[in-house]
Amino acid sequence: MRPLLLFLLPLLAAAQRAPRAKTVNGTYIGRHLPEFGQDLFLGIPYARSPVLDNPIPWNESWKGERSAEYYGSICHCGANAEIIAATNVTGKSAECLNLNIIRPSERILKDKKKIPVVVWLYGGAFGDGFGADLNSNYSWFVQESVAQGRPIMAITLNYRVGFLGFPSGNDAVAGVTNLGLKDQRQALRWVQENIEGFGGDPDRVTVWGQSAGAQSIAYHLMAYGGQSKEKLFQQGIMVSSSVGMGNTVRLLTNASVEGYNHILNATKCSGAKDTLGCLRMVPLDDLWKVAISVRTAATFWPTIDGEYVPKPPTLSLLAGEFSRDVSILAGTGSDEGFSYTNLLNPGFQTQAELYAVLRAMFRTAREESLQELLRLYPVDAPSPPYALPMSQTDRFCIALKETGANCGAQYRRIAAILGDFGLIHGRRVFARKFAELGLKFYSFRFDTWPTSFPITSGDVKPGFSGHGSDYAYWFGWPKEYELHGKHPPIGPGIWHEALQRVMTAALISYISAGDPNALKGRSFSKKQGSTWGVDCLQRNRH
Ligand SMILES: *[C@@H]1O[C@H](CO)[C@@H](O)[C@H](O)[C@H]1NC(C)=O
Ligand SMILES: *[C@@H]1O[C@H](CO)[C@@H](O)[C@H](O)[C@H]1NC(C)=O
Ligand SMILES: *[C@@H]1O[C@H](CO)[C@@H](O)[C@H](O)[C@H]1NC(C)=O
Ligand SMILES: *[C@@H]1O[C@H](CO)[C@@H](O)[C@H](O)[C@H]1NC(C)=O
Ligand SMILES: *[C@@H]1O[C@H](CO)[C@@H](O)[C@H](O)[C@H]1NC(C)=O
Ligand SMILES: *[C@@H]1O[C@H](CO)[C@@H](O)[C@H](O)[C@H]1NC(C)=O
Repeated sequence: MRPLLLFLLPLLAAAQRAPRAKTVNGTYIGRHLPEFGQDLFLGIPYARSPVLDNPIPWNESWKGERSAEYYGSICHCGANAEIIAATNVTGKSAECLNLNIIRPSERILKDKKKIPVVVWLYGGAFGDGFGADLNSNYSWFVQESVAQGRPIMAITLNYRVGFLGFPSGNDAVAGVTNLGLKDQRQALRWVQENIEGFGGDPDRVTVWGQSAGAQSIAYHLMAYGGQSKEKLFQQGIMVSSSVGMGNTVRLLTNASVEGYNHILNATKCSGAKDTLGCLRMVPLDDLWKVAISVRTAATFWPTIDGEYVPKPPTLSLLAGEFSRDVSILAGTGSDEGFSYTNLLNPGFQTQAELYAVLRAMFRTAREESLQELLRLYPVDAPSPPYALPMSQTDRFCIALKETGANCGAQYRRIAAILGDFGLIHGRRVFARKFAELGLKFYSFRFDTWPTSFPITSGDVKPGFSGHGSDYAYWFGWPKEYELHGKHPPIGPGIWHEALQRVMTAALISYISAGDPNALKGRSFSKKQGSTWGVDCLQRNRH
């Protein structure tokens, strides 16, 4: 028997090391990740990305096996070299539309039929991000799903961003804008066609995004006025964005027209008959450099194109013009407004100063509207609308100052206004509309006690429930997980650990059972949380 055993063992080991999966057009060979008991299939191309043009579905068939062992290339984006090096992607390239699958290993899958799939859409203001980025590492989340007895698989993908993903300007809107959204949609089609070959269930697909990724989900719901018959996903998780009044109007703006003209001038394409055609001939790295030199926040964003994005998305939402067969779970942090507010570096002390800022920001607002705004957010209000009272000597203000930020007497006020305007109220409008139509919508508010967080200088995010402060909570990352400063780890103490377990478990529960409240397993005890409804995740004061 002995020689036979010796012969068998290496074979078993090899099978464990190299998982395989059949797609419609060929077989991929993946890589086993023993420390997590997972299989990775990385860098799988899902579409071609001709420069400044619509994605073309991948159409190749092949015999034999193709390697999907390592991350592929990424699209041009704002990520710095340190982050890119830490992820072992193969660099930036024009052909960048590929996706990555992280699933429990075959041993765990073998007695399951098909498992639920979650597809991640990164944030980054439609100008940054890539699928393999450190801040979408699903290994712990997928591992926890297995521990909960609800195994799921995760997919991360690249979509084009910045001018290359969202070109706009007079010539670009003619059928070739919103490319990044169309890329995402093409990836979702690939998932429908192929995910069964990996053990995934095409009828239980959740799309999950943060910030721009969350907004993308709303755009997909409203694509083609909600008339599309395609069933690409059944559930959506929208974190820290949706489609609110603050994001309503993305027509061809003066900024994007000027930006486009600037790019034409800088690439000597101004005189060309076919300006897009001219830009397509410019070396991609040069084009990207020119484009980011003009890019101010939101210059190149999703644009109303009359078809994919038929009208301002808030109006589509209010008119009920969206797919009705998708349930949504949405969340925002109480302090979403900080990131906007800190851009203003608000030392303002008086209401007059605050008024002047609001007047400049909301140029077309009626006078009564601004007065109403000031009335609704009084300077001395308790919670709500502010998570904490405002005074020069409270812990909140002291903590802010420790980070180097200004903390004038109007800080909390403008932060609350901007957070509600930009991100928080969109979740509520969404929830209200879904409720009105009898559709399933879950909502949460991420809200932690600020001063129990570590405060890092130069950035208030880690101190409070600001934009992006919650990643480590949902993804279940251990504190030692190295993110190169992208997001803070969870705060110290057992309450933060409990909050992390509740959030991870609730999201796994939603992805696998369609309900965040169907929690079970070692992670969750009733005492630690409450049923999720609007603003129901309790403030964690300990
Ligand atoms: C598979 O190949 C066929 C024809 O070769 C093509 O039409 C189809 O788009 C391909 N599908 C994928 C997912 O590559
Ligand atoms: C695949 O797409 C390319 C264009 O990207 C086209 O030239 C080719 O004919 C297509 N092949 C098949 C089999 O459809
Ligand atoms: C990084 O990727 C390359 C292939 O692109 C591979 O050869 C190498 O082993 C990878 N390194 C790590 C640490 O995974
Ligand atoms: C997540 O990070 C851990 C630790 O760096 C690493 O071992 C693992 O391969 C990563 N997972 C994925 C899917 O990249
Ligand atoms: C946009 O540009 C047009 C003409 O170029 C100008 O009339 C208009 O005032 C501008 N709008 C804004 C909001 O700057
Ligand atoms: C166009 O580009 C040239 C340099 O290539 C520069 O001198 C000029 O100011 C630019 N014009 C505009 C309107 O940006």
